[in-house]
Amino acid sequence: MAETADKTKAPEVWRREMVEALKAPGALNGMELPARLERALLEVPRHLFAPGADLEAAHSPFTAVETKQDERGVALSSVSAPQVQAMMLAQARVEPGMRVLELGSGGYNAALIAELAGPSGHVASVDIDPEVTERARKLLAEAGYPQVQVVTADGTDGLPEQAPFDRIVVTAGAWDIPPAWRAQLTGTGRLVVPLRMRSLTRSVAFQRRGERLVGDSALICGFVPMQGAGARAEQVVLANGDESVGLRFDDGAPADPSLLDNAVRGPRTEVWSGVEVGRQEPVMGLQLYLATHLSGFCLMSVDPEADTGPVRPSNPYFSMAAVQGDSFAYLLVRRTPDGEDVEYGVHAFGARGAELADEVCGLLAAWDRLHRGGPGPQITAYPASTPDEELEGDTVIDKEHVRITLAWPKGA
Ligand SMILES: C[S@@+](CC[C@H](N)C(=O)[O-])C[C@H]1O[C@@H](n2cnc3c(N)ncnc32)[C@H](O)[C@@H]1O
Repeated sequence: MAETADKTKAPEVWRREMVEALKAPGALNGMELPARLERALLEVPRHLFAPGADLEAAHSPFTAVETKQDERGVALSSVSAPQVQAMMLAQARVEPGMRVLELGSGGYNAALIAELAGPSGHVASVDIDPEVTERARKLLAEAGYPQVQVVTADGTDGLPEQAPFDRIVVTAGAWDIPPAWRAQLTGTGRLVVPLRMRSLTRSVAFQRRGERLVGDSALICGFVPMQGAGARAEQVVLANGDESVGLRFDDGAPADPSLLDNAVRGPRTEVWSGVEVGRQEPVMGLQLYLATHLSGFCLMSVDPEADTGPVRPSNPYFSMAAVQGDSFAYLLVRRTPDGEDVEYGVHAFGARGAELADEVCGLLAAWDRLHRGGPGPQITAYPASTPDEELEGDTVIDKEHVRITLAWPKGA
């Protein structure tokens, strides 16, 4: 019965349900859905931008619709999930009459921006892939947004011929912030970008202040990777000598991964930290805290079908981990006896395994004491030439074009 009813549901009804899901507490990682964005989401016919998908898939609030894959089946282009688009556009704060540049096209997000910028605004969308721009141009015209200018180019360069922009919204995963993005913003412009820092991607909303970009929110998200001049692959270390245990490093991958060969086969140290978190509690801050305080930080994924011996994480696809010399550790969780919370623990291996486990537990305790439930770090991007003494923050992540600092609020 339900299925028949779904098939007869009009697109407007699907959109209304999608918007209700986006208004649920926590759906946008703490952002509120602004009223004008809600109206845009109700107005733009999302299904017209995902012609291959059925209405349910096209309106699924938390799922992207893939539109292009590479030869290995890895997504290259998609209509992003409504949740991610709503979150980033809430961060962007597009006002009527603004000039907005979207980097990474699909059509739908640009149509939402066109609604927000209104008839006196200007929207341009750049994609590196001519197939994507051709499709986006056609779908935008068919859906009633022919005014959006779709350009085929590498978004690393922005769109100098149409600059400056009040807002730049990047919709592919970036490792760096190329100079063009800052230079093409107006003096008070905002840049929203899914930025990879130590393997963790956060949609960071930056406000331009002169040569600096000052972040005011950083929310968890996932994106297809940037191609072209800004492409930067992570380094993957195969810890078991085969593909069963993979460790992804953004920077600082071990020079000699063979040191780990014996470590991953045991013996294993298991330590429980006593730090418990609610099953729905946001741990975005904890992840960034460990990523920036634990040397050798990386992300581990294991093949759930393979025999990985003593390496048995609680989540095979995503575990925070660290490699230090011939020693290695990863975090895991177990349910607390009442089933309400989970407790963090550590599995550690190698000659310094026990020390490494202690270090991880110490960091978990420090986060719990000083930063848990807090606003997260202040993220700022400075030009790469900025000397150390002009940086404000506890941690520096050096990219090619910018130096990113994270300043953690001082705890009680
Ligand atoms: C997630 S899709 C964009 C989704 C789109 N904004 C929407 O309406 O949902 C990411 C796009 O970024 C594009 N892309 C990747 N690297 C790029 C680059 N250097 N410059 C411009 N576009 C790029 C890909 O071709 C892909 O189409």
